[in-house]
Amino acid sequence: MSIAFIDLHPAPTDLKRVVQEGLQREPRQLPAWLLYDAEGSQLFAAICDQPEYSLTRTEISLLESHAADIASTLESGVGSGIGSSVGSGVVVEFGIGNAKKVAPLLRALQPKTFVALDISRSALEHSLTGLAAQHPATQMLGICCDHSQLQDLPTHPWLTGERRIGFFPGSSLGNFTPKDAVLLLQQFRHLLAGGPLLLGLDQPSDPALLEAAYDDAAGMSRAFAFNLLKRLNRDLQGNALPKNFRYQARWQADQQRIEMALVSRCAQTIQLADTAWSFQPNERWVTEHSVKYSPDAAADLAAQAGWQIQQRWHDDQSQMSLHLLVPSN
Ligand SMILES: C[S@@+](CC[C@H](N)C(=O)[O-])C[C@H]1O[C@@H](n2cnc3c(N)ncnc32)[C@H](O)[C@@H]1O
Repeated sequence: MSIAFIDLHPAPTDLKRVVQEGLQREPRQLPAWLLYDAEGSQLFAAICDQPEYSLTRTEISLLESHAADIASTLESGVGSGIGSSVGSGVVVEFGIGNAKKVAPLLRALQPKTFVALDISRSALEHSLTGLAAQHPATQMLGICCDHSQLQDLPTHPWLTGERRIGFFPGSSLGNFTPKDAVLLLQQFRHLLAGGPLLLGLDQPSDPALLEAAYDDAAGMSRAFAFNLLKRLNRDLQGNALPKNFRYQARWQADQQRIEMALVSRCAQTIQLADTAWSFQPNERWVTEHSVKYSPDAAADLAAQAGWQIQQRWHDDQSQMSLHLLVPSN
């Protein structure tokens, strides 16, 4: 069993800069990766188990049903010589979290190397160690980083000369604005060096169901958002009081997205990152967006980033789709 880690986590000074930039925006909003410290990763795993949040279960079921078909599509070299064969190639997962999804792909593709990226060091180490035990023939490389800022995959002997296949599940692309999502997909195209990308996205659906999915009755989504305050208070010596905020998740039809926010209950000033930040009553501190993409919107987004959708696998309700993207030229 071979396993290696590379740590490229942003330094504390970067954290301070990112927070200061985000809190100056209107509305105030930080990049979603800040939600994922060790506790945030555990809370996200708990969200995935909630009855209201069906996205994870649906995507796992899609992967289990179609992994062999996905592998044979890849092995046939669909697109432009991006075919894979057992015991070769590199599968690269962006944002592995608790590694609930990649196993069917690893079983079907049996790559030489699996590269997992995640901003959360604890989730990455835990996930990769577990996968290494289940897939002893595959070399496991973990890279702790903000993948939106990664210019290239680090130089490593396991990556040299191998064909790359990307995997980006969980509708994580929806955390980015459509403009930033295009930039991220362009970036992934570069990182995958001509290889394909399997992208999991969910579609717009009933707003009431979506709002419930992001504000579950057990309070896991709420706890996940409030953990941002806890994390910032700890890492940037802040004094934000959770009791002065309430959580809200609401569907914004014009942008086809759920917006999650901490809403200030009162006029208040908090200290964070060496700065005082004032909030008005009812002012929203956006913790996260989740943009939903119809098949047409997904195709349009992919095209803007230099990809085309080669194939799509979806559930009966078309709630969740796995899109196989190949470079468009
Ligand atoms: C929405 S969760 C999805 C987890 C998993 N892929 C799934 O589908 O259930 C996003 C994951 O990506 C990681 N993540 C979020 N933003 C990131 C970034 N900019 N760079 C690297 N990892 C990131 C988080 O730590 C988390 O594990």
